Amino acid sequence: MPERVIQQLVRFERDQNMAIVTIENPPVNALSPGVPEGLAAAIEQANADAEVHAIVLIGSGRTFIAGADVNEFGKATAGHYLASLTAAVNAVEDSAKPVIVAIHGSALGGGLETAMAGHYRVIAASAQVGQPEVKLGLIPGSGGTQRLPRLAGVAKAVEMCAFGAPVKAQEALAAGMVDRIIEGDLRTGALAFAREIAGQPPRRTRDLNGKIVNADPAIFAAAREQVRKKMRGQTAPLAAIDAVEAATKLSFAEGLEREAELFGECLRGPQSRALIYAFFAERAVTKIPGIATSTPAYDIRRAAIIGAGTMGGGIAMAFVNAGISVSIKESSQEALDRGTNQIRRNYAQAVKSGRLTQSAMEQRLALITPQLTFDGFDAADIIIEAVFENLPVKQQVFREIDALAKPESVLATNTSSLDIDQIAKATSRPEMVIGLHFFSPANIMRLVEMVRGKHTRPEVVATATALIKKLGKIGVVAGNCPGFIGNRMINVYGREAQFLVEEGASVEDVNQALLDFGMAMGPLAMFDLVGNDVMRDIAEVAGLPAGARRPLVLPQLCALGRLGQKTGSGWSRYNDERKALPDPAVAELIENTARSAGIQRRVISPEEIIDRCVLGLVNEGARILEEGMALRASDIDVIYLTGYGFPGWRGGPMFYADTLGIPRVLARIEEFARRHGEALWNPAPLLRQLAAQKQTFTQASDQPRS
Ligand code: NAI
Repeated sequence: MPERVIQQLVRFERDQNMAIVTIENPPVNALSPGVPEGLAAAIEQANADAEVHAIVLIGSGRTFIAGADVNEFGKATAGHYLASLTAAVNAVEDSAKPVIVAIHGSALGGGLETAMAGHYRVIAASAQVGQPEVKLGLIPGSGGTQRLPRLAGVAKAVEMCAFGAPVKAQEALAAGMVDRIIEGDLRTGALAFAREIAGQPPRRTRDLNGKIVNADPAIFAAAREQVRKKMRGQTAPLAAIDAVEAATKLSFAEGLEREAELFGECLRGPQSRALIYAFFAERAVTKIPGIATSTPAYDIRRAAIIGAGTMGGGIAMAFVNAGISVSIKESSQEALDRGTNQIRRNYAQAVKSGRLTQSAMEQRLALITPQLTFDGFDAADIIIEAVFENLPVKQQVFREIDALAKPESVLATNTSSLDIDQIAKATSRPEMVIGLHFFSPANIMRLVEMVRGKHTRPEVVATATALIKKLGKIGVVAGNCPGFIGNRMINVYGREAQFLVEEGASVEDVNQALLDFGMAMGPLAMFDLVGNDVMRDIAEVAGLPAGARRPLVLPQLCALGRLGQKTGSGWSRYNDERKALPDPAVAELIENTARSAGIQRRVISPEEIIDRCVLGLVNEGARILEEGMALRASDIDVIYLTGYGFPGWRGGPMFYADTLGIPRVLARIEEFARRHGEALWNPAPLLRQLAAQKQTFTQASDQPRS
């Protein structure tokens, strides 16, 4: 690596008898090419300097090393890159002079691995450390799975490597991962620590075997069980457990080899490809044609919400969680009380489970002003409507807010399917109107579909983008079509799930097949959770092609009051713990309905269930893309991963179609068209085009459509 690059990314300096090696690769000091080489060179330089007694390794800016450079994993040069990481980590551990690592911000993945190769670690009280590689379908490389159990013990190492959650400084200290918490200036504290231990021989993590002898095998068994439950279908967490277990059975050198083998398998496997794709897909959503970083955004300091129901309450929480005060208006005292009590209950639950302190709860509640009037709405920077899903009702609300909102106030609707332009038409300023489709529960779900109307100004989109980021959420641009992106596709998926039970699969078969595929829940379980009436209404807005077959059971369930979990029964029965139980009455209703409609009942394989539902998503997704209702295939995937429980390790429906192969997807859809009718299964022209051009969705939408 040329000297110039090393000097840019890793700085070497002397402070009396101490060498200070500073990683300078903003914004997060990722281990990009050049950093590992620079680090190794700096350690060598310090060792060659007779006057240096100890080395402090620290990061500049807001964090220590936040991780490896994920961009490098997908390249043909990945092997070379990984070797450079290993070489750097070895250089640190091999150093003849003690290396003291000073951690602030985050030391994650390769960052923690580098830190653990150091001989001592000090940490800022606010910092955190972790091994989040499993979130990318990988395991810790560079010795993470071998050094962490030696420092923190086997149980902690398994937990961190298999589940990926970070731990805070205090916990890291208690576990033995760091030696001291530094209050005050980290560099000063690290230098003081270095002076204390200078002269002592390096304490190498690889030689600390006390915590790995006689490891309890039950730790590994329990973790594997937990992975099977909590991270269904994922291979990397199991590989991570295997790697930590190897540390307890093999020598350090052999353990490293085993880790490298397992890492390689994960890196070459389909799951890491999907998860790394998803990682970049999430970052691509903010690239919006017509919106530049220079597009001015309005400052959002005060928000106002209309409707304190399920969504209004959740949205209010999302705002105050981000420190933005909200006024929330209802139409009756009773509804207002119901809404605010629910917000209070949600926060109280968070306090009870230790996720929030009592004082934080009080602070957040204090930012909410429940009211029956429009008082203060004229000062709001954004007004969000979350009243009933009914066009005239929403138009009336928009007429009212149009009369009082300040000119630069963003007027948003949380409609899940209505026409944004129709709503905007009720105002004198349709350019200020945008759809912000939050998902339920809005204080938790990260997804927001940003629906651009015909007249929405770029500044309003830019404001929404910045706001959603501030709320810690992900905003994906959607065109103004019935159901937008997510619900338009879910209609097809849900419709097929219903047809499958009419054709002979049981409710449980359908739910189980998609659970096994990796969905967070089965489709009919989702109907029961969201509400069969709500799902019916969503489907009505989207409509069905003329002459197409219609689901027959859903309207009957609704008529019977079997709306789902909220009424105790829907497609399934629910016990007091809300556990779904098969309901013979539903099975009978389905059979009778199918018989009188002349539908032939047959045995249906899990494979067909998955293909009908998931390829239904793909076909509709392709239409959405060709109509320009989504900017890129990966935006659709982000929506499905963050809003609809699609398994991350399959990358999303469009990426999944790419991995199956477009010609194969097309052939299957053509087969469904022959068997179940062109009206519902006509392949999207884009599918045919991609198949002919031997392209994938991802390749075809590398350049976003405008
Ligand atoms: P909800 O029925 O729980 O709440 C609506 C609230 O609005 C009620 O409390 C009602 O009293 C109040 N309201 C009605 N008219 C009003 C007016 N003129 N002024 C003040 N308050 C008024 O409904 P929910 O579920 O919160 O839905 C609200 C909107 O969010 C709908 O457009 C819905 O389609 C959409 N949505 C719902 C989702 C869900 O899962 N429930 C998900 C995403 C969007």
